[in-house]
Amino acid sequence: MTILDARDIVKIFPEPVPFQVLRGISLTIARGEFVSIVGKSGCGKSTLLYVLSTLDTDYRGTLTIADTVVTGKDQDFLAHFRGEHIGFIFQFHFLLQEFTILDNVLLPALKLGKEPPDRVRDRAMGLLERMGIADCAHRPAKQLSGGQQQRAAIARALINQPALVIGDEPTGNLDSENTAAVLDLLSSICRDMGQTVVIVTHDREVAARSDRILTMADGRIIGQERRRP
Ligand SMILES: Nc1ncnc2c1ncn2[C@@H]1O[C@H](COP(=O)(O)OP(=O)(O)OP(=O)(O)O)[C@@H](O)[C@H]1O
Ligand SMILES: [Mg+2]
Repeated sequence: MTILDARDIVKIFPEPVPFQVLRGISLTIARGEFVSIVGKSGCGKSTLLYVLSTLDTDYRGTLTIADTVVTGKDQDFLAHFRGEHIGFIFQFHFLLQEFTILDNVLLPALKLGKEPPDRVRDRAMGLLERMGIADCAHRPAKQLSGGQQQRAAIARALINQPALVIGDEPTGNLDSENTAAVLDLLSSICRDMGQTVVIVTHDREVAARSDRILTMADGRIIGQERRRP
């Protein structure tokens, strides 16, 4: 079953001179897959993730997620759609600095308002546990290190159990032990929960943990390697 289908995605930045960053990208990602995207700096990886995550709507082509054509939908629709189906892990994690780690993680679930607070809280603590920062749950984000905040942002991205998790170098700030913990968690949500993970990484060892590696160059996908069926 397909979770994401992108057809002929073309993205042009108009400034300072028109520059075609994405030159016709088509890809299909199955539910439960763990996909990584690699490629040289500047080849368009982050730009592609912004399109795939519905945050950037200024592109040509068609994007379908969870059987919904999201291309052409208005911002209200997309904000709600993302809350329900998509979790993001970005390089700059944007935690609310005055709020506790636990409150940061709980926020997307409270916004969605679909589950009893107790259940969400238990899941949040479980995620913080797996990220090794449960003991920091009640401290304000600003008191945590960059790597701890990064792991909290990962827990926040996963709290609503989104069908699609998108990450731009999610392990970029982490040491090898915490990188392994994040990869274990991402692999297990694919395997056990049927969630789908798409990440950009510069780390070959991180890519090697995924089911499929897509290689980008100059705004195109130029190759793929399937590591598991
Ligand atoms: N807002 C923008 N306006 C104009 N050009 C941009 C803009 N954002 C990115 N670009 C250009 O688009 C190209 C692709 O950028 P992108 O951030 O997608 O690269 P990337 O593959 O993620 O690189 P990195 O590995 O360094 O993160 C780069 O040449 C960049 O300069
Ligand atoms: Mg990038």
